[in-house]
Amino acid sequence: MNIAILISGRGSNMKSILQAIQGGEIEGVKDVIVVSNRSTAPGLEIARKEFGVKTLIVLPEENGQMYDKKLMTELQRNEIFEHNSLICLAGFMRILKPEFIKAYKNKIVNIHPSLLPSFKGLHAQKQALLAGVKITGCTVHLVDVGIDTGPILLQECVPVHDNDTIESLSARILIEEHKIYVKALKLLSANKFLLKGNRMVQI
Ligand code: GAR
Repeated sequence: MNIAILISGRGSNMKSILQAIQGGEIEGVKDVIVVSNRSTAPGLEIARKEFGVKTLIVLPEENGQMYDKKLMTELQRNEIFEHNSLICLAGFMRILKPEFIKAYKNKIVNIHPSLLPSFKGLHAQKQALLAGVKITGCTVHLVDVGIDTGPILLQECVPVHDNDTIESLSARILIEEHKIYVKALKLLSANKFLLKGNRMVQI
């Protein structure tokens, strides 16, 4: 199996995935590439320098309309196809077009910093604070054509403290993100999930 990790920034989820791959925790991984839509994403240097992983920068052109086609061409050039790969979104801050998602049906995985279906979209941690919830968390899910709506693989709860700021809450959630993303990829690579309707069950 080949893995493409798509990032836009810091890349801490990417890093925990690369550590797990390097440690042999995810079965049958052949090639790994990291792709960013931003040339300044700090994660790019981590991938190259700390892990020796090939990186690609795929920048959006002016109106962004052809981005997904360009991305798909680059991925395919690097042997990332539906039949042999997983695409892991790790803080990739672009919405992928339905054509792209359909071309990699059930092969795109995302991490989101809330207990979906609560707090979809941007600034999920801020949304949780504003809503006054006492528990939030993170979700690993397959990507479908909706925004943060695909079948859920794993979730973890995180308490919200009375004195939390966006930063303190985000940091507490991030620790759990790193754990469940790797765990979900381990289970996926070992074929331990079965899709029943919109429910992902473990087998
Ligand atoms: C993570 O918190 C991830 O859940 C979030 O962006 C951050 C990326 O951090 N993603 C989303 O909000 C997607 N809707 P990282 O670059 O350190 O992994």
